[in-house]
Amino acid sequence: MTNQVTDTGHDTIADHVADAVETIRSRVQLMPTVGIVLGSGLGSLADDVHAVASIPYGAIPYFPQSTAPGHAGRLVLGHLNGQAVVVMAGRVHLYEGYSAQRVTFPVRVMRALGAQTLIITNAAGGVRTDLDAGALMLITDHINLTGRNPLVGENQPSLGVRFPDMTYAYDPDLQALARSVAAQHDIKLAEGVYLGLLGPSYETPAEIRMARSLGADAVGMSTVMEVIAARHAGLRVLAISCITNMAAGILPQKLDEQEVIETAAAVRDTFITLIRGLLSRLADAQSVDTEGR
Ligand code: HPA
Repeated sequence: MTNQVTDTGHDTIADHVADAVETIRSRVQLMPTVGIVLGSGLGSLADDVHAVASIPYGAIPYFPQSTAPGHAGRLVLGHLNGQAVVVMAGRVHLYEGYSAQRVTFPVRVMRALGAQTLIITNAAGGVRTDLDAGALMLITDHINLTGRNPLVGENQPSLGVRFPDMTYAYDPDLQALARSVAAQHDIKLAEGVYLGLLGPSYETPAEIRMARSLGADAVGMSTVMEVIAARHAGLRVLAISCITNMAAGILPQKLDEQEVIETAAAVRDTFITLIRGLLSRLADAQSVDTEGR
């Protein structure tokens, strides 16, 4: 797939999004207001959704297939804590070999289905020394060092503007809501800047020292592409990292994928409480809005 609008009759990303939406709509009429991208180890939240439809990625035209462990690869539409949601159980990453356009295709589809808010979760390595394994971190900003951007190529105005603003990429009101929900449930929620890298090799200790000097608090291999595409599409974004390990070189030991998986599993219930609490409060905010009109 390319991001070029051509005058030679080739389909554009907007055409592909329309095809994907048509297939989904043929199975389910639900209009979701919140999109959720579930990162490593969090896929089970999709099982809590009162699902109206659960569609394997393979059944949706142009949808990328997830190859990473712990990423199921199905799009679940239904209700969770009073919200109509569309949940990506399993995401794809640049390191799987997908282009930035394909990695972000599902975000564009979620927007086209009606979502206005996107909640993103991920696993990340803690760069700041107080962020040890098991911490949850509200992402307040990011640094994109993947060398990629999903908006490269001719802009398609139906998808968004040429130069989207990234000043408030992580919505300040949603951040305030997340702090409030965390406090309500007695969940410790750290905050920081997420640095996105291509992967799939973990960083060297020297790269982590660089990340720290650049102002990063956590590092990971996802999220930044989706956030850029989401802002392009006008979605409000909230993102939370599960710090699954201290980043390379902080502790005198190797990084281990097993630790990442085990830590994500250990904090899964807390993470899910936080996300479900957020959805409830979003639903409250919406009903207050409606009543106030
Ligand atoms: N680095 C990059 N990505 C990650 C890490 C890490 O240490 N842990 C989980 N995802």
